Amino acid sequence: GRAGQSAAHESAIKHVTGRAAYIDDLPAPADALHVAIGFSPVAHGRLTRLDLDKVRHAPGVIDVITIVDVPGHTDIGPVFPGDPIFVDDEISYLGQSLFAVAATSYKAARLAVRLAVVEIDEQPINLDPVSAAEAGDVVRPTHVQQSGDWQRALDNAPHVLEREQFVGGQEHFYLEGQACLVTPTEDEGVTVFTSNQHPSETQKLVAEVLGVPFHAVTVETRRMGGGFGGKETQASPWSCIAALFARRTGRAIRLRLARAEDTRATGKRHPFHNRYRLGFDDQGVLTGGDITVIGDCGYSPDLSEAIVDRAMFHADNAYSLGEARVTGHRARTNTASNTAFRGFGGPQGMMIIEAAMDDIARHVGEDPLTVRKRNLYRPGRDVTHYGQSVDQYALIHEIVERLEASSDYWNRRKAISDFNARSPIVKKGLALTPVKFGISFTAKHLNQAGALLHVYTDGSVMINHGGTEMGQGLHTKVCQVVARELGLDLSQVRITATRTDKVPNTSPTAASSGADLNGMAARDAASQIRERLFDFAAEHYEIDREGMTMENGELVAFNRRISWGELVQAAYLSRISLSAKGFYSTPLIHYDRNTGKGRPFYYFAHGAAAAEVEVDTLSGEYRLTRADILHDVGDSLNPAIDMGQVEGGFIQGMGWLTTEELKWNAQGRLISDGPATYKIPAFGDLPPEFNVELLQGHPNSQASIYRSKAVGEPPFMLGISVWSALRDALASLVDYRQAPRLDTPATPERVLMAAEALRRAS
Ligand code: MTE
Ligand code: MOS
Repeated sequence: GRAGQSAAHESAIKHVTGRAAYIDDLPAPADALHVAIGFSPVAHGRLTRLDLDKVRHAPGVIDVITIVDVPGHTDIGPVFPGDPIFVDDEISYLGQSLFAVAATSYKAARLAVRLAVVEIDEQPINLDPVSAAEAGDVVRPTHVQQSGDWQRALDNAPHVLEREQFVGGQEHFYLEGQACLVTPTEDEGVTVFTSNQHPSETQKLVAEVLGVPFHAVTVETRRMGGGFGGKETQASPWSCIAALFARRTGRAIRLRLARAEDTRATGKRHPFHNRYRLGFDDQGVLTGGDITVIGDCGYSPDLSEAIVDRAMFHADNAYSLGEARVTGHRARTNTASNTAFRGFGGPQGMMIIEAAMDDIARHVGEDPLTVRKRNLYRPGRDVTHYGQSVDQYALIHEIVERLEASSDYWNRRKAISDFNARSPIVKKGLALTPVKFGISFTAKHLNQAGALLHVYTDGSVMINHGGTEMGQGLHTKVCQVVARELGLDLSQVRITATRTDKVPNTSPTAASSGADLNGMAARDAASQIRERLFDFAAEHYEIDREGMTMENGELVAFNRRISWGELVQAAYLSRISLSAKGFYSTPLIHYDRNTGKGRPFYYFAHGAAAAEVEVDTLSGEYRLTRADILHDVGDSLNPAIDMGQVEGGFIQGMGWLTTEELKWNAQGRLISDGPATYKIPAFGDLPPEFNVELLQGHPNSQASIYRSKAVGEPPFMLGISVWSALRDALASLVDYRQAPRLDTPATPERVLMAAEALRRAS
């Protein structure tokens, strides 16, 4: 069960028996109050009247608050200002918080909210990011990355193609919605239990809203029922509101959003409008060009600066763009503020170059896989448009070639062409797409982590670190690291809830860096303890310090073995500290936003997927019939957990590009607000043939934790293969002379419309 081996998730049994405690399972005092929020019913306007008299006098209501009741900061923007805790006068989206009610029951609170008298001077709304970007209505300034003379490259290119695409957003659809429980402390602060990827930021914001020092606020997260990026910034407002009530009433406060409220009030994956104008030679090899990505940020900055940056960093995916310019706009629209979601903009950026690969292949009359392979980073074409060198290009080639062979790509290509020639209506499609994903926070300061390790006198070990557990298995991996460093069995190491009073000033668990950062910090703490115990043992037992190891619960020295339990006891009695704190910061990384150049990523994680689909071109219905995946996790910390991440990521990526459709009506109301109208993949959507493998024998070339690689997000983008396979099936309608435009999600309606358009054109 130590690092490097498969071990069950530390909460697996609790998950399947229902004993894992989520926020709503936590016991609260009998007099705890429940909160309901009054949300804006319109998407843009001025709040001219907010009469809460009837709300205050409704049965069970104890307290009602608006912006005027906030003693401290009223702007809770996480990185940049722009997110008022409650509307002051300007309403920016439908679902924005106007006021909140605390009552003796959840039902009483919800009923009371309805009694509010709200008058709004409505204003026109904009839901179109393209017109917003054109008008300069952006939440953050436009950023440009450039390498070489893109204009000259286009002028001299034998071929030039120009296309655009719309890439849809995505609702996180975490199983556990936004929820918190806040209790007042005996001084001026609160303790916050929250389903949250970023406890330190919630601590900061709650303290600022209350107007108290950070040390008065403690935030605890044991686990989330899924986060997927949706609880990196968007968990904080609810904790801030509950904290206000806790201080005002002196009682414990429970707050949870109903699913429909949660989907309206919180941001999603950014929809993107992307454009390319790219030049290439007769072989389909890119010479250069111009790519523009426009992220639909919603009403405020939130994390959009970094998210659109990451889209730009991945507009090349695994291919050398040649001499290129990449421009990223952050458009403002009247929706909730879009936010982190697995891949953090990277998937949306990758979609433009994967579209181009398909389009170029059709243009030069080659198989898309052939064109993709020709464009992969290679010697002489191994520097990205932002100046980072891709030193592991050989690995990308190896992954693609191995999957090409193991998925039997060319034989299946032949079989599919034969099938399609005989089958006028049902068409099969096949695509093999690579992934190269940069690992590190692009905000450099976030690449740090801390850990706290205690050894108790019975020899049991407790580890705590700044990362949070959302199902991805981070806590399991960190325990495995400690077990490996101390030569103990995994059962001797226990992890406790993430708490801001144990490990301070932590980064969000995001950017797939949880295990890289916190694993290293935990390793630092554990190795300090080990070395301290070696020093102690050398002196105490008068044995040779040289060559000591810890293995299988024993200290092993030259001609001497001492059990862990005895060693710990002896050290304690000799007044040796059995506690250590660890720290880690990622080396080598830098990025200069003024020049658009640097090395933002410590390393890249890679993978490739081959997907086969079957499309009924008269109805637009389709099925994924087979998927083959080869994914690079370096030397895996836990192959079982990593396989789960690869499979889950691929399926979630497929859902994003196929069935998960966000719909707003003309008034800016999100109408796909629950499982009846928003379709995430279900068991039946799994491909009947699903071959998933982790790449073996390729440790990380960087000195990451035991040479492993981050796995949380990269596999998400393997789902692009399904979308490309759909385009391949559709292209067969015109004998592969062109790839149809296929915006996402490629729902059956969109697939049908693309098929009809091709039929009309041919
Ligand atoms: N896996 C599960 N089961 N649940 C989640 O919420 N979030 C993903 C990924 N895998 C998620 C998940 C996202 S968005 C990220 S950034 C990483 O896990 C975060 O964890 P890590 O850094 O420990 O990989
Ligand atoms: Mo993940 S989108 O970085 O939380």
